[in-house]
Amino acid sequence: MASPRKPLYYPEYLQLDRILDAQYPESAKDGSPAHDEMLFIIVHQTFELWFKQILHELDLVQGIFDNDTVPEKHVGRAVHALRRINEIQRLLIDQLGVLETMTPLDFLDFRDDLVPASGFQSMQFRQIENLLGLDPAHRLKIKGAAYVDVLSEEHARLVRATEHQTSLLDCVQRWLERTPFVSFGDFDFWDAYRAAVESMLARDRMVVETHPNIDAEERSVQLARFDDMAGSFDALFDRDQWEALRDTGKRRFSHRAILAALLINLYRDEPIFQLPFRFLTGLVDIDEGFTAWRQRHALMVHRMIGGRIGTGGTSGHGYLEAAADKHRTFQDLFDLPTFFIPRSALPELPMSVREQLDFRYHEPA
Ligand code: HEM
Repeated sequence: MASPRKPLYYPEYLQLDRILDAQYPESAKDGSPAHDEMLFIIVHQTFELWFKQILHELDLVQGIFDNDTVPEKHVGRAVHALRRINEIQRLLIDQLGVLETMTPLDFLDFRDDLVPASGFQSMQFRQIENLLGLDPAHRLKIKGAAYVDVLSEEHARLVRATEHQTSLLDCVQRWLERTPFVSFGDFDFWDAYRAAVESMLARDRMVVETHPNIDAEERSVQLARFDDMAGSFDALFDRDQWEALRDTGKRRFSHRAILAALLINLYRDEPIFQLPFRFLTGLVDIDEGFTAWRQRHALMVHRMIGGRIGTGGTSGHGYLEAAADKHRTFQDLFDLPTFFIPRSALPELPMSVREQLDFRYHEPA
């Protein structure tokens, strides 16, 4: 017979002894304790706990998508996990406000004690970046060094391992490539879409050409910009051009995956696309969440240390702003609205196709 379970005791269950005994301000060690160092440590520790939860949620989403088939009901769970990550991100951004109650002078009381430690050495943050699909080849390099060079050997190994794991971007791409609706049998959707795009672009160009509030100089600048934007359609319609952009790192998703993402967005009112649409929106939300966090962190760093270099040795807020701009994963989904056309101009799908996209309840015979 199994022995009765010992009643659970809250502090033991949560291992509070370990967590609450994990704050050792450096400044206290040389006999000049800085009051705000406790806040600095606790804010960082709570961040790392939330990073752990984000990794846990990413693991769930990857477990769902890293398969040859993804049942519809599992997509709903993935949407939910992404929403949870997004809520955590909001909290993380808000937490920086708590840290900002420490003034730059208060920070100076203990900052020098921290060198060369820095959030730059957050192993979990690097794992999140890699598991989302940040391309290691396109990371910013600091004085030519790889980003793992600042980590301990053990942490560098664990971070490198996530570079070789299937990333969320990889599995979403494979899932998109399997979308059966990129071609529609006899109905040539892409010809119809292209015709609709051409008439939309001609109308939009006319607006710039005839706008009464734009002078000649501004008009020629705007027309050049417009033509540049219109040119991006060429790559959408030409697989080879698109794949060449992928080689340069300008695009991440394959041509087939981007066409599927476009269709899902354009026809999201069709019931079968609703959940995939929400999932793609969730990816945009979390990419935006990390970028917003990076930008907010860079701003905080600017007001905290001005133009000084970071304790980890980067240029400080300049490096962080560049990373916020460059270290994005799902930029293709952000750029997708370039290719959107109004619902009223969308090619109508033939009835045979629409029937396949519908949800139907069949009465049992
Ligand atoms: C007074 C507050 C803070 C200051 C002055 C600060 C400063 C910096 C600086 C200057 C860097 C660039 C690397 C370096 O040269 O050190 C950096 C990177 C980083 N910090 Fe902070 N930080 C602060 C708070 C935080 C907090 C609360 C977190 C939460 C975990 C954090 C996480 C990170 C991460 C993940 C990076 C790497 C970013 C990347 O490489 O893209 N920092 N920080």
